[in-house]
Amino acid sequence: MWARWGFVIVCMLFVIFVTNEVIQVALLYDDKQTMDARGNWIESVAVRQGKVQVDEFESSFSQFAKKEHIQLTLYNRDRKLIYSSTGKEKKTLDQIAGLRESGDFLVYIKALKSDGAKVGYLKINGYRTSIVGLGLVYCLLAAAGIALLYYRDYLVLSYARPIRFASRMVENLLEGSYNMIAPDHVKRESILRLNLALNRMSDAMHEINRSYTRQQDSMTTLIENIGNGLLFVDGVGRINYVNHTFKEDFQTRATHWELADYHEVIPYDEVRKMIDEVFETKEKLARQLQFTVHIERKHFDISCAPILNKHKKIRGIVVVFHDITAIKKLENTRKDFVANVSHELKTPVTSLIGFTETLLDGAREDKELEDQFLHIMLHEGRRLQSLITDLLELSKIEREHFVLQWAPVSLSDVLESVLLILREKAEAKKIKLEYLQGDEGVVAGDAFRIRQIMINLISNAISYTPENGTVTIAIHERKSEADLVISDTGMGIEQDQIPRIFERFYRVDKARSRDSGGTGLGLAIVKHLVEAHDGKIHVTSVPGKGSTFTITFNKSST
Ligand SMILES: Nc1ncnc2c1ncn2[C@@H]1O[C@H](COP(=O)(O)OP(=O)(O)OP(=O)(O)O)[C@@H](O)[C@H]1O
Ligand SMILES: [Mg+2]
Repeated sequence: MWARWGFVIVCMLFVIFVTNEVIQVALLYDDKQTMDARGNWIESVAVRQGKVQVDEFESSFSQFAKKEHIQLTLYNRDRKLIYSSTGKEKKTLDQIAGLRESGDFLVYIKALKSDGAKVGYLKINGYRTSIVGLGLVYCLLAAAGIALLYYRDYLVLSYARPIRFASRMVENLLEGSYNMIAPDHVKRESILRLNLALNRMSDAMHEINRSYTRQQDSMTTLIENIGNGLLFVDGVGRINYVNHTFKEDFQTRATHWELADYHEVIPYDEVRKMIDEVFETKEKLARQLQFTVHIERKHFDISCAPILNKHKKIRGIVVVFHDITAIKKLENTRKDFVANVSHELKTPVTSLIGFTETLLDGAREDKELEDQFLHIMLHEGRRLQSLITDLLELSKIEREHFVLQWAPVSLSDVLESVLLILREKAEAKKIKLEYLQGDEGVVAGDAFRIRQIMINLISNAISYTPENGTVTIAIHERKSEADLVISDTGMGIEQDQIPRIFERFYRVDKARSRDSGGTGLGLAIVKHLVEAHDGKIHVTSVPGKGSTFTITFNKSST
């Protein structure tokens, strides 16, 4: 600041100095002209007949000197004084010709000539021409300069501050901060208009930003919660966005997917081909594909749509993955179910028709054969009946509004009544049916349904245990749960078959099971009933040694 002011003042002094010098030089030139004119006049008067003659013109010279306010001195050729208007001059002249300054005075010396030869010398002492008040003018000039500088600084400051504020505000706006407000009470109109415009711009940008954020939020919520996997590929084939459902469906964290080329990261050939195709054709594409995700086989309905700009150029591609595995599974189960039911029904019906035809063809003549056939027909009829009963039961349990008659149920009481029925069946197979008396196990449930669960499980244990085996049943109570444990010393089940035995119509050994009169629906019913009780089933089995089925019920709170 001070350096700047110092510089300005030095510059101003320099300007004043130069101006002063120029004026002085101009004045001196003017003075020389005047001196020359005077010198010429005196020369024309004083030089006569090759000499300087004073006597007859002495009075003219004195008058001239008085009028012009100068001192006039004349010397002869030998520089000896011959006339002085003041009478105080030296006798000889020792200076050379020319114009000289001495303080406020000027000394002018001229060689007087006649026909080119020096005949004498003239000396004029006179005042310099000076401009009165020049200093004052300089002072005023300097003051005006400084005032101008001050005004300029004031102007600069009064504009610079609001402009600096405005630029800071604009920078903040660009960074997304909208809390600065430009003052709206300034006097200068241009600044006021600038400030008002800035405030309006800030408000508008804030509003745009808010609505953009709102839109973005709802878009993100929509994309994340749409329930379908979504993948966005940009116009040059880089992956722009992968939603949460996609990551879940394909069990990938997709951390390195962002901005990667889709050819490099999407592990499914068919999907890459679909995207390639859409890039080529610019047309929407939908396909059903199946992929292996880890150990699971998954089915997807995939639609691939281009995002086009108004010039029909591809800006990106959206790929939607709709997981239809559950639907596919259901479809397959339904198909299997119909096939299974038809097959299961067909066997006894064929057998019934076969035996009836044989009887009609004359087999009834033979009383013994007729008796045997009728027994087989009764067996097949019962099998058909039990199949239909089980199917009806299963469909009843599977129905959505199937409800249990909830009540506290004593597992030991139900078990006792079940054992009464099944004891005979066990004895027929010489199987030891053992109940390890212990806890009572009062659980929350439906007594009738729990009885059904027990009958199914204990019948299985008896059916799939060879003669002289043992079936052991126990009830264990824990803090909030009670277990019903049914173990047998039977044929057991292979580990990989365990989850399958709960499927409808699934039998490990179809022929043997069918012989034992089984339909393959018993465990499917058990599974549904246990689930309805919020219970759990646990199976352990060693083939050839036996199996243990543990059903966990929740204890009744009363
Ligand atoms: N305790 C067990 N030991 C060995 N295998 C068993 C046992 N319990 C069930 N299984 C196997 O599981 C299959 C399915 O049993 P599930 O009770 O559903 O049908 P099922 O006994 O054949 O017919 P049903 O509908 O008449 O009970 C059986 O066919 C059998 O192969
Ligand atoms: Mg069974």
